[in-house]
Amino acid sequence: MIIGTMRLGEWGSNLSTEELEKFIDACVDLGFTDFDHADIYGHYTEEGRFGRVIKRRPDLKSKIQITTKCCIKLVTPNRPEHSLKSYDSTKDHIIWSAENSIKELGVDQLDVLLIHRPDYLMNPHEIAEAFSLLKDSGKVKAFGVSNFTASQFELLHSFTPLITNQLEISLLHRNAFEDGTLDQCQRLGITPTAWSPFGGGVIFSEKSSPELQKIKKVAADIGQNLDASLDQILIAFLLKHPAGILPILGSTKIDRIRAMKNALNIELSHEDWYRLWEAAIGEEVA
Ligand SMILES: NC(=O)c1ccc[n+]([C@@H]2O[C@H](COP(=O)([O-])OP(=O)(O)OC[C@H]3O[C@@H](n4cnc5c(N)ncnc54)[C@H](OP(=O)(O)O)[C@@H]3O)[C@@H](O)[C@H]2O)c1
Repeated sequence: MIIGTMRLGEWGSNLSTEELEKFIDACVDLGFTDFDHADIYGHYTEEGRFGRVIKRRPDLKSKIQITTKCCIKLVTPNRPEHSLKSYDSTKDHIIWSAENSIKELGVDQLDVLLIHRPDYLMNPHEIAEAFSLLKDSGKVKAFGVSNFTASQFELLHSFTPLITNQLEISLLHRNAFEDGTLDQCQRLGITPTAWSPFGGGVIFSEKSSPELQKIKKVAADIGQNLDASLDQILIAFLLKHPAGILPILGSTKIDRIRAMKNALNIELSHEDWYRLWEAAIGEEVA
């Protein structure tokens, strides 16, 4: 599983450098060494926060893998040159963004660079050229995309090899099971990664909707038999899928991350998987 960094800083728990260092160390000790970033997290501050830990602890560089994303332009005082929220996947922007992420994170290279969202103006020739220059210069090892439809993925993948499509996948957000993106990953042997596996945490809210209450009830029943908690069952639901989905954990609490490790040992039966599916869609399958 992958550790998401979106909520570690300004957009969540605001961990200090010391707290973040402890968090990273604890994740590494658990064997969770993949960290998912994006240039925009914390309004372009999160990579730098992480980089301050790397600066203190350069030994971490050889122990972790870094994914980051580019191409969303947010309007924020940290980027005064942006006047409108937009996407930019031009060659110059991709190269500038990757180099900037390397600098902010304090690493020598990025393990994976993703195009964060499909740019309606994307030119696959230009993206392929940018990726090739970044790879040849040793700045980025591999490339992927996020939130791409199957046809957008097909288009770009025909110009340049992609290793993942990072999608929102959970019992609360089920499009990927039906829109061809997971089928495509299986056909091409590509590993999909799943953001917001808990719907960004709404499933844990006391005041959740009747739909969520139903999922929680069914998950609790299944969990009782398997000695597993709600979060573990939701992760086991993703892990059961034959596409080999890698969940990106969004918690900023190490105890919750630790509990997720045990989800790796939970084997849902087909019927349990479909019990959860039925609860989520509100009816039995056709
Ligand atoms: N590619 C994209 O477009 C995209 C979009 C969004 C996110 N992402 C990536 O995906 C990662 C995960 O997304 P996410 O943060 O939305 O994931 P998530 O795991 O669905 O939601 C995380 C939230 O749920 C809470 N939570 C987690 N486990 C809990 C538990 N057992 N009990 C109660 N609350 C719990 C967390 O609070 P605590 O911190 O208090 O545990 C946190 O607020 C992000 O960090 C980012 O790297 C990518």
